[in-house]
Amino acid sequence: MPAIVLIGAQWGDEGKGKATDLLGTRVDYVVKFNGGNNAGHTVVVGNQKYALHLLPSGILTPNVTPVITNGVVVDIEVLFHELEALASRGVDVSRLLISANAHVITAYHRTLDKVTERFLGKRQIGTTGRGIGPAYADKINRLGIRMQDIFDENILRQKVEGALDQKNHLLVKVYNRRAIEVNDIVENLLSYADRLRPMVVDTSLVLNQALDAGKTVLFEGGQATMLDVDHGTYPFVTSSNATSGGASTGSGVAPNRIERVIGIVKAYTTRVGAGPFPTELFDESGEFLRANGFEFGTTTGRPRRCGWYDAPIARYSARINGVTDFVLTKLDVLTGLKTIPVCVAYDVDGVRVDEVPVSQSDFHHAVPIYEEFEGWDEDITGARTFDDLPPAAQRYVLAIEAMSGSRISAIGVGPGREEIVVRHDLLGL
Ligand code: GDP
Ligand code: IMO
Ligand code: MG
Repeated sequence: MPAIVLIGAQWGDEGKGKATDLLGTRVDYVVKFNGGNNAGHTVVVGNQKYALHLLPSGILTPNVTPVITNGVVVDIEVLFHELEALASRGVDVSRLLISANAHVITAYHRTLDKVTERFLGKRQIGTTGRGIGPAYADKINRLGIRMQDIFDENILRQKVEGALDQKNHLLVKVYNRRAIEVNDIVENLLSYADRLRPMVVDTSLVLNQALDAGKTVLFEGGQATMLDVDHGTYPFVTSSNATSGGASTGSGVAPNRIERVIGIVKAYTTRVGAGPFPTELFDESGEFLRANGFEFGTTTGRPRRCGWYDAPIARYSARINGVTDFVLTKLDVLTGLKTIPVCVAYDVDGVRVDEVPVSQSDFHHAVPIYEEFEGWDEDITGARTFDDLPPAAQRYVLAIEAMSGSRISAIGVGPGREEIVVRHDLLGL
Protein backbone atom coordinates (compact mmCIF):
# COMPACT_ATOMS: atom_id res chain seq x y z
CA MET A 1 0.00 0.00 0.00
CA PRO A 2 1.19 3.45 -0.79
CA ALA A 3 2.59 6.46 0.94
CA ILE A 4 0.78 9.61 -0.18
CA VAL A 5 1.97 13.17 0.28
CA LEU A 6 -0.33 16.17 0.56
CA ILE A 7 1.24 19.62 0.26
CA GLY A 8 0.29 23.27 -0.14
CA ALA A 9 0.90 24.52 -3.68
CA GLN A 10 0.81 28.28 -2.99
CA TRP A 11 1.74 30.32 0.12
CA GLY A 12 -0.17 28.28 2.69
CA ASP A 13 -3.71 28.14 4.03
CA GLU A 14 -4.97 26.40 0.91
CA GLY A 15 -7.17 24.07 2.98
CA LYS A 16 -4.68 21.25 3.64
CA GLY A 17 -6.32 20.51 6.99
CA LYS A 18 -9.71 19.98 5.44
CA ALA A 19 -8.28 17.78 2.67
CA THR A 20 -6.35 15.66 5.18
CA ASP A 21 -9.41 15.31 7.35
CA LEU A 22 -11.41 14.27 4.31
CA LEU A 23 -9.00 11.41 3.56
CA GLY A 24 -8.64 10.53 7.25
CA THR A 25 -11.14 7.69 7.32
CA ARG A 26 -9.32 5.92 4.49
CA VAL A 27 -5.76 6.03 5.83
CA ASP A 28 -4.03 4.41 8.78
CA TYR A 29 -1.38 7.02 9.61
CA VAL A 30 -1.29 10.80 9.16
CA VAL A 31 2.21 12.23 9.41
CA LYS A 32 3.37 15.78 9.98
CA PHE A 33 6.88 15.95 8.53
CA ASN A 34 7.88 19.65 8.55
CA GLY A 35 7.31 22.91 10.38
CA GLY A 36 5.80 23.24 13.81
CA ASN A 37 3.10 25.30 15.44
CA ASN A 38 3.48 28.02 12.80
CA ALA A 39 0.85 26.04 10.87
CA GLY A 40 -2.82 26.73 11.37
CA HIS A 41 -5.36 24.29 10.01
CA THR A 42 -9.07 24.90 10.47
CA VAL A 43 -11.15 21.77 10.14
CA VAL A 44 -14.93 21.85 10.28
CA VAL A 45 -16.64 18.59 11.24
CA GLY A 46 -20.42 18.89 11.44
CA ASN A 47 -21.05 21.89 13.67
CA GLN A 48 -17.66 21.59 15.35
CA LYS A 49 -14.69 23.74 14.33
CA TYR A 50 -11.14 22.73 15.25
CA ALA A 51 -7.97 24.82 14.91
CA LEU A 52 -4.85 22.65 14.77
CA HIS A 53 -1.30 23.98 14.87
CA LEU A 54 1.29 21.40 15.83
CA LEU A 55 -0.78 18.25 15.56
CA PRO A 56 -1.50 16.58 12.22
CA SER A 57 -5.11 17.07 11.09
CA GLY A 58 -5.57 13.29 11.02
CA ILE A 59 -5.83 13.36 14.80
CA LEU A 60 -9.54 14.16 14.42
CA THR A 61 -10.29 10.83 12.76
CA PRO A 62 -10.87 7.85 15.06
CA ASN A 63 -8.47 4.93 14.43
CA VAL A 64 -5.87 7.02 12.59
CA THR A 65 -2.42 7.09 14.17
CA PRO A 66 -1.08 10.65 14.11
CA VAL A 67 2.71 10.89 13.83
CA ILE A 68 5.13 13.80 14.27
CA THR A 69 8.40 12.89 12.57
CA ASN A 70 12.02 14.07 12.69
CA GLY A 71 11.50 16.99 10.29
CA VAL A 72 9.20 18.79 12.71
CA VAL A 73 10.19 21.27 15.43
CA VAL A 74 8.14 20.65 18.57
CA ASP A 75 7.17 23.24 21.16
CA ILE A 76 6.34 20.89 24.02
CA GLU A 77 4.22 23.40 25.92
CA VAL A 78 2.09 23.90 22.83
CA LEU A 79 1.96 20.15 22.26
CA PHE A 80 0.36 19.43 25.63
CA HIS A 81 -1.87 22.47 25.43
CA GLU A 82 -3.25 21.27 22.09
CA LEU A 83 -3.58 17.66 23.22
CA GLU A 84 -5.48 18.70 26.35
CA ALA A 85 -7.79 21.02 24.43
CA LEU A 86 -8.70 18.23 21.99
CA ALA A 87 -9.09 15.61 24.72
CA SER A 88 -11.49 17.90 26.60
CA ARG A 89 -13.64 17.96 23.44
CA GLY A 90 -13.73 14.18 23.29
CA VAL A 91 -11.03 13.59 20.67
CA ASP A 92 -8.95 10.46 21.31
CA VAL A 93 -5.33 11.65 21.30
CA SER A 94 -3.81 8.55 22.86
CA ARG A 95 -2.20 7.16 19.71
CA LEU A 96 0.09 10.13 18.96
CA LEU A 97 3.70 9.17 18.18
CA ILE A 98 6.65 11.58 18.11
CA SER A 99 10.10 10.98 16.65
CA ALA A 100 13.00 10.75 19.10
CA ASN A 101 14.91 12.84 16.54
CA ALA A 102 12.43 15.72 16.31
CA HIS A 103 13.94 18.98 17.50
CA VAL A 104 12.53 20.98 20.38
CA ILE A 105 11.48 24.64 20.36
CA THR A 106 12.42 26.25 23.68
CA ALA A 107 11.82 29.66 25.25
CA TYR A 108 15.08 31.01 23.79
CA HIS A 109 13.97 30.17 20.25
CA ARG A 110 10.73 32.07 20.74
CA THR A 111 12.60 35.04 22.18
CA LEU A 112 15.14 35.06 19.36
CA ASP A 113 12.42 34.84 16.71
CA LYS A 114 10.81 38.01 18.07
CA VAL A 115 13.96 40.05 18.63
CA THR A 116 15.54 39.20 15.29
CA GLU A 117 12.34 40.21 13.49
CA ARG A 118 12.34 43.52 15.35
CA PHE A 119 15.95 44.13 14.37
CA LEU A 120 15.22 43.41 10.71
CA GLY A 121 12.96 46.49 10.67
CA LYS A 122 11.79 47.11 7.10
CA ARG A 123 13.27 43.79 5.98
CA GLN A 124 11.04 41.79 8.35
CA ILE A 125 9.79 38.38 7.19
CA GLY A 126 6.60 38.67 9.25
CA THR A 127 7.17 35.32 10.96
CA THR A 128 4.58 33.77 13.23
CA GLY A 129 6.90 34.41 16.19
CA ARG A 130 6.76 30.79 17.29
CA GLY A 131 10.52 30.21 17.33
CA ILE A 132 10.51 28.14 14.13
CA GLY A 133 13.50 29.77 12.36
CA PRO A 134 15.81 29.81 15.40
CA ALA A 135 14.99 26.15 16.21
CA TYR A 136 15.83 25.03 12.66
CA ALA A 137 18.95 27.23 12.71
CA ASP A 138 20.14 25.39 15.83
CA LYS A 139 19.43 22.06 14.13
CA ILE A 140 21.57 23.01 11.13
CA ASN A 141 24.22 24.52 13.43
CA ARG A 142 24.27 21.25 15.37
CA LEU A 143 23.21 23.00 18.56
CA GLY A 144 19.66 21.64 18.67
CA ILE A 145 17.91 19.78 21.46
CA ARG A 146 16.09 16.64 20.35
CA MET A 147 13.19 14.84 21.99
CA GLN A 148 15.46 11.98 23.03
CA ASP A 149 17.73 14.37 24.96
CA ILE A 150 14.91 15.05 27.41
CA PHE A 151 15.27 11.53 28.77
CA ASP A 152 18.91 12.00 29.78
CA GLU A 153 19.36 14.88 32.19
CA ASN A 154 23.12 14.91 31.89
CA ILE A 155 23.14 15.18 28.13
CA LEU A 156 20.26 17.63 28.16
CA ARG A 157 22.11 19.98 30.50
CA GLN A 158 25.27 19.86 28.37
CA LYS A 159 23.34 20.56 25.20
CA VAL A 160 21.35 23.44 26.66
CA GLU A 161 24.61 24.92 28.00
CA GLY A 162 26.13 24.62 24.56
CA ALA A 163 23.14 26.24 22.91
CA LEU A 164 22.94 29.12 25.36
CA ASP A 165 26.63 29.90 25.55
CA GLN A 166 26.66 32.08 22.47
CA LYS A 167 23.01 33.05 22.55
CA ASN A 168 23.22 34.70 25.93
CA HIS A 169 26.01 36.96 24.68
CA LEU A 170 23.83 37.86 21.75
CA LEU A 171 20.71 38.40 23.82
CA VAL A 172 22.46 40.56 26.41
CA LYS A 173 25.01 42.48 24.36
CA VAL A 174 23.23 42.91 21.03
CA TYR A 175 19.54 42.66 21.77
CA ASN A 176 19.62 44.17 25.26
CA ARG A 177 17.61 41.33 26.80
CA ARG A 178 18.09 39.33 29.97
CA ALA A 179 20.26 36.21 29.83
CA ILE A 180 18.38 32.90 29.89
CA GLU A 181 19.24 30.49 32.73
CA VAL A 182 20.33 27.01 31.66
CA ASN A 183 18.61 25.55 34.68
CA ASP A 184 15.24 27.10 33.88
CA ILE A 185 15.24 25.53 30.41
CA VAL A 186 16.46 22.15 31.65
CA GLU A 187 13.91 21.99 34.48
CA ASN A 188 11.11 22.99 32.17
CA LEU A 189 11.97 20.29 29.62
CA LEU A 190 12.49 17.62 32.28
CA SER A 191 9.06 18.35 33.72
CA TYR A 192 7.53 16.84 30.57
CA ALA A 193 9.74 13.73 30.42
CA ASP A 194 7.35 11.25 32.01
CA ARG A 195 4.41 12.29 29.86
CA LEU A 196 6.52 12.24 26.70
CA ARG A 197 8.18 8.88 27.24
CA PRO A 198 5.36 6.65 25.93
CA MET A 199 4.93 8.76 22.76
CA VAL A 200 8.55 9.11 21.70
CA VAL A 201 9.70 6.35 19.34
CA ASP A 202 11.66 5.62 16.16
CA THR A 203 8.96 6.90 13.81
CA SER A 204 10.91 5.98 10.67
CA LEU A 205 10.88 2.36 11.78
CA VAL A 206 7.19 2.48 12.71
CA LEU A 207 6.16 3.99 9.37
CA ASN A 208 8.28 1.70 7.22
CA GLN A 209 6.97 -1.35 9.07
CA ALA A 210 3.44 -0.05 8.63
CA LEU A 211 4.00 0.30 4.87
CA ASP A 212 5.49 -3.21 4.77
CA ALA A 213 2.34 -4.47 6.47
CA GLY A 214 0.14 -2.91 3.79
CA LYS A 215 -1.02 0.15 5.73
CA THR A 216 -1.70 3.51 4.08
CA VAL A 217 0.35 6.50 5.22
CA LEU A 218 -0.63 10.10 4.45
CA PHE A 219 2.04 12.77 4.84
CA GLU A 220 0.54 16.18 5.55
CA GLY A 221 2.78 19.14 4.73
CA GLY A 222 2.64 22.31 6.77
CA GLN A 223 3.15 25.69 5.04
CA ALA A 224 3.53 25.42 1.27
CA THR A 225 5.71 25.29 -1.83
CA MET A 226 6.27 29.06 -2.09
CA LEU A 227 7.26 29.13 1.61
CA ASP A 228 9.76 26.25 1.21
CA VAL A 229 13.25 27.29 2.30
CA ASP A 230 14.79 25.95 -0.94
CA HIS A 231 12.05 26.39 -3.53
CA GLY A 232 10.00 29.30 -2.19
CA THR A 233 10.39 33.06 -2.38
CA TYR A 234 13.56 33.11 -0.29
CA PRO A 235 14.21 34.90 2.08
CA PHE A 236 10.46 35.41 2.59
CA VAL A 237 9.92 31.77 3.46
CA THR A 238 9.68 29.47 6.44
CA SER A 239 12.72 27.47 7.57
CA SER A 240 11.73 23.97 6.49
CA ASN A 241 11.11 21.96 3.32
CA ALA A 242 7.37 22.13 2.83
CA THR A 243 7.56 20.46 -0.60
CA SER A 244 7.00 16.75 -1.24
CA GLY A 245 10.71 15.90 -0.99
CA GLY A 246 10.57 17.08 2.61
CA ALA A 247 8.29 14.15 3.38
CA SER A 248 11.20 11.75 2.78
CA THR A 249 13.98 13.60 4.59
CA GLY A 250 11.52 14.69 7.24
CA SER A 251 10.40 11.15 8.07
CA GLY A 252 12.90 8.54 6.94
CA VAL A 253 10.46 7.03 4.43
CA ALA A 254 12.22 6.71 1.08
CA PRO A 255 11.02 8.60 -2.04
CA ASN A 256 10.30 5.39 -3.95
CA ARG A 257 7.60 4.49 -1.43
CA ILE A 258 5.62 7.62 -2.31
CA GLU A 259 3.08 6.96 -5.03
CA ARG A 260 0.93 10.05 -5.10
CA VAL A 261 1.40 13.72 -4.41
CA ILE A 262 -1.73 15.74 -3.80
CA GLY A 263 -1.29 19.50 -4.23
CA ILE A 264 -3.79 21.78 -2.55
CA VAL A 265 -4.53 25.06 -4.39
CA LYS A 266 -7.06 27.76 -3.67
CA ALA A 267 -9.22 29.03 -6.52
CA TYR A 268 -7.44 32.35 -5.85
CA THR A 269 -4.25 33.17 -3.90
CA THR A 270 -3.45 34.34 -0.37
CA ARG A 271 -0.29 35.05 1.54
CA VAL A 272 0.46 35.95 5.18
CA GLY A 273 3.60 37.91 6.06
CA ALA A 274 6.01 39.77 3.80
CA GLY A 275 7.40 38.92 0.36
CA PRO A 276 6.56 39.11 -3.34
CA PHE A 277 3.04 38.28 -4.50
CA PRO A 278 2.42 39.27 -8.14
CA THR A 279 -1.38 38.92 -8.24
CA GLU A 280 -1.99 40.71 -4.91
CA LEU A 281 -5.03 42.99 -4.96
CA PHE A 282 -5.22 46.30 -3.11
CA ASP A 283 -8.74 47.22 -4.21
CA GLU A 284 -12.29 46.13 -3.45
CA SER A 285 -11.72 42.78 -5.24
CA GLY A 286 -9.09 41.94 -2.60
CA GLU A 287 -11.57 42.96 0.11
CA PHE A 288 -14.21 40.77 -1.54
CA LEU A 289 -11.92 37.71 -1.39
CA ARG A 290 -10.85 38.44 2.20
CA ALA A 291 -14.40 38.91 3.43
CA ASN A 292 -16.00 36.05 1.45
CA GLY A 293 -13.15 33.63 2.06
CA PHE A 294 -12.76 34.72 5.68
CA GLU A 295 -9.06 35.19 5.03
CA PHE A 296 -7.66 35.83 8.48
CA GLY A 297 -4.80 33.73 9.87
CA THR A 298 -5.65 30.68 12.00
CA THR A 299 -2.40 31.11 13.95
CA THR A 300 -1.89 34.86 14.29
CA GLY A 301 -5.28 36.28 13.27
CA ARG A 302 -3.54 38.55 10.72
CA PRO A 303 -5.60 39.52 7.65
CA ARG A 304 -4.27 37.49 4.72
CA ARG A 305 -3.13 39.30 1.58
CA CYS A 306 -5.43 38.25 -1.28
CA GLY A 307 -5.07 38.05 -5.06
CA TRP A 308 -6.17 36.19 -8.18
CA TYR A 309 -5.17 32.65 -9.16
CA ASP A 310 -1.62 32.45 -10.44
CA ALA A 311 -1.23 29.63 -12.99
CA PRO A 312 2.60 29.84 -13.29
CA ILE A 313 2.80 29.21 -9.53
CA ALA A 314 0.52 26.19 -9.77
CA ARG A 315 2.64 24.88 -12.66
CA TYR A 316 5.83 25.48 -10.67
CA SER A 317 4.34 23.57 -7.73
CA ALA A 318 3.29 20.72 -9.98
CA ARG A 319 6.89 20.47 -11.17
CA ILE A 320 8.71 20.83 -7.82
CA ASN A 321 6.40 18.43 -5.99
CA GLY A 322 5.49 15.97 -8.75
CA VAL A 323 1.82 16.70 -8.15
CA THR A 324 -0.36 13.84 -9.40
CA ASP A 325 -3.65 15.43 -8.33
CA PHE A 326 -4.72 18.92 -7.35
CA VAL A 327 -7.51 19.69 -4.92
CA LEU A 328 -8.92 23.09 -5.87
CA THR A 329 -10.39 24.68 -2.74
CA LYS A 330 -12.71 27.60 -2.01
CA LEU A 331 -14.30 27.79 -5.47
CA ASP A 332 -17.47 28.92 -3.65
CA VAL A 333 -15.70 32.10 -2.53
CA LEU A 334 -15.63 33.35 -6.15
CA THR A 335 -19.43 33.16 -6.47
CA GLY A 336 -20.91 36.56 -7.30
CA LEU A 337 -17.97 37.96 -9.29
CA LYS A 338 -18.85 39.24 -12.79
CA THR A 339 -15.50 38.24 -14.23
CA ILE A 340 -12.59 36.35 -12.73
CA PRO A 341 -9.07 37.21 -13.88
CA VAL A 342 -6.42 34.44 -13.91
CA CYS A 343 -2.71 35.17 -14.18
CA VAL A 344 -1.42 33.15 -17.15
CA ALA A 345 2.12 34.56 -17.39
CA TYR A 346 4.15 37.55 -16.19
CA ASP A 347 5.48 40.69 -17.77
CA VAL A 348 8.99 41.14 -16.40
CA ASP A 349 10.44 44.50 -17.43
CA GLY A 350 8.66 44.33 -20.79
CA VAL A 351 9.34 40.66 -21.54
CA ARG A 352 6.66 37.94 -21.34
CA VAL A 353 7.73 35.16 -18.96
CA ASP A 354 5.71 31.95 -18.71
CA GLU A 355 7.40 30.33 -15.71
CA VAL A 356 8.17 31.56 -12.19
CA PRO A 357 11.44 33.49 -12.64
CA VAL A 358 14.46 32.10 -10.78
CA SER A 359 15.77 35.59 -10.09
CA GLN A 360 14.35 37.19 -6.97
CA SER A 361 14.44 40.66 -8.54
CA ASP A 362 12.59 39.46 -11.64
CA PHE A 363 9.89 37.94 -9.46
CA HIS A 364 9.59 41.21 -7.53
CA HIS A 365 9.10 43.02 -10.85
CA ALA A 366 6.70 40.43 -12.30
CA VAL A 367 3.42 42.01 -13.40
CA PRO A 368 0.64 39.49 -14.05
CA ILE A 369 -0.73 39.02 -17.55
CA TYR A 370 -4.39 38.21 -17.02
CA GLU A 371 -6.98 36.27 -18.94
CA GLU A 372 -10.57 36.99 -17.87
CA PHE A 373 -13.19 34.32 -17.23
CA GLU A 374 -16.91 34.73 -16.86
CA GLY A 375 -18.23 34.48 -13.28
CA TRP A 376 -21.43 32.91 -11.89
CA ASP A 377 -24.07 33.89 -9.35
CA GLU A 378 -25.54 30.52 -8.37
CA ASP A 379 -24.82 29.18 -4.88
CA ILE A 380 -22.50 26.19 -5.46
CA THR A 381 -22.09 24.98 -1.86
CA GLY A 382 -24.58 22.18 -2.51
CA ALA A 383 -22.75 20.84 -5.59
CA ARG A 384 -21.50 17.28 -5.18
CA THR A 385 -20.71 16.37 -8.79
CA PHE A 386 -18.95 18.36 -11.49
CA ASP A 387 -22.20 18.56 -13.44
CA ASP A 388 -23.89 20.27 -10.46
CA LEU A 389 -21.62 23.29 -11.00
CA PRO A 390 -22.91 26.13 -13.20
CA PRO A 391 -21.38 26.08 -16.71
CA ALA A 392 -19.25 29.18 -16.03
CA ALA A 393 -17.78 27.56 -12.89
CA GLN A 394 -17.04 24.40 -14.88
CA ARG A 395 -15.28 26.46 -17.55
CA TYR A 396 -13.21 28.25 -14.89
CA VAL A 397 -12.08 24.92 -13.37
CA LEU A 398 -11.28 23.35 -16.75
CA ALA A 399 -9.35 26.44 -17.85
CA ILE A 400 -7.13 26.56 -14.79
CA GLU A 401 -6.69 22.79 -14.90
CA ALA A 402 -5.31 23.13 -18.43
CA MET A 403 -2.81 25.76 -17.22
CA SER A 404 -1.74 24.21 -13.91
CA GLY A 405 0.27 21.16 -14.87
CA SER A 406 -1.85 18.41 -13.33
CA ARG A 407 -5.46 17.29 -13.16
CA ILE A 408 -7.89 18.80 -10.64
CA SER A 409 -9.31 15.76 -8.90
CA ALA A 410 -11.46 17.42 -6.26
CA ILE A 411 -13.08 20.82 -5.80
CA GLY A 412 -13.93 22.43 -2.46
CA VAL A 413 -17.27 24.23 -2.40
CA GLY A 414 -17.46 25.05 1.33
CA PRO A 415 -15.57 24.56 4.60
CA GLY A 416 -17.53 21.46 5.75
CA ARG A 417 -16.17 17.93 5.42
CA GLU A 418 -18.86 16.99 2.90
CA GLU A 419 -18.67 20.20 0.85
CA ILE A 420 -16.56 18.75 -1.94
CA VAL A 421 -16.88 17.62 -5.54
CA VAL A 422 -14.73 14.57 -6.27
CA ARG A 423 -13.79 13.95 -9.93
CA HIS A 424 -11.07 11.32 -9.45
CA ASP A 425 -10.29 9.23 -6.39
CA LEU A 426 -7.48 11.06 -4.59
CA LEU A 427 -5.87 7.96 -3.10
CA GLY A 428 -6.00 6.03 -6.35
CA LEU A 429 -6.73 2.90 -4.36
P1 GDP B 1 -4.41 25.02 5.78
O1 GDP B 1 -3.42 25.77 6.60
O2 GDP B 1 -3.94 24.74 4.40
O3 GDP B 1 -4.91 23.79 6.48
O4 GDP B 1 -5.65 25.99 5.60
P2 GDP B 1 -6.36 26.90 6.73
O5 GDP B 1 -7.18 26.03 7.60
O6 GDP B 1 -5.37 27.81 7.36
O7 GDP B 1 -7.26 27.84 5.82
C1 GDP B 1 -8.24 27.32 4.99
C2 GDP B 1 -9.62 27.85 5.42
O8 GDP B 1 -10.54 27.63 4.39
C3 GDP B 1 -10.18 27.15 6.64
O9 GDP B 1 -10.90 28.08 7.40
C4 GDP B 1 -11.11 26.09 6.05
O10 GDP B 1 -12.20 25.76 6.91
C5 GDP B 1 -11.61 26.82 4.84
N1 GDP B 1 -11.92 25.97 3.68
C6 GDP B 1 -11.28 24.86 3.22
N2 GDP B 1 -11.81 24.44 2.06
C7 GDP B 1 -12.82 25.32 1.77
C8 GDP B 1 -13.72 25.45 0.67
O11 GDP B 1 -13.72 24.69 -0.30
N3 GDP B 1 -14.60 26.51 0.73
C9 GDP B 1 -14.63 27.40 1.76
N4 GDP B 1 -15.51 28.40 1.74
N5 GDP B 1 -13.79 27.29 2.80
C10 GDP B 1 -12.89 26.28 2.80
P1 IMO C 1 -0.20 26.62 7.08
O1 IMO C 1 0.33 25.25 7.37
C1 IMO C 1 0.68 30.71 5.83
C2 IMO C 1 4.63 32.31 6.91
C3 IMO C 1 4.69 33.43 7.91
C4 IMO C 1 5.92 34.16 7.44
C5 IMO C 1 6.84 33.03 6.98
C6 IMO C 1 7.87 32.62 8.01
O2 IMO C 1 -1.35 27.03 7.94
O3 IMO C 1 -0.44 26.81 5.62
P2 IMO C 1 7.75 31.27 10.29
O4 IMO C 1 7.02 31.56 11.57
O5 IMO C 1 7.38 29.97 9.66
O6 IMO C 1 9.23 31.43 10.41
O7 IMO C 1 7.27 32.44 9.27
O8 IMO C 1 5.99 31.94 6.69
N1 IMO C 1 3.91 31.10 7.36
C7 IMO C 1 2.69 30.74 6.92
N2 IMO C 1 1.84 31.37 6.10
N3 IMO C 1 0.36 29.51 6.33
C8 IMO C 1 1.21 28.85 7.15
O9 IMO C 1 1.01 27.60 7.56
C9 IMO C 1 2.43 29.48 7.51
N4 IMO C 1 3.48 29.14 8.29
C10 IMO C 1 4.38 30.14 8.18
O10 IMO C 1 3.53 34.24 7.85
O11 IMO C 1 5.62 34.95 6.31
MG1 MG D 1 -3.26 27.55 7.67
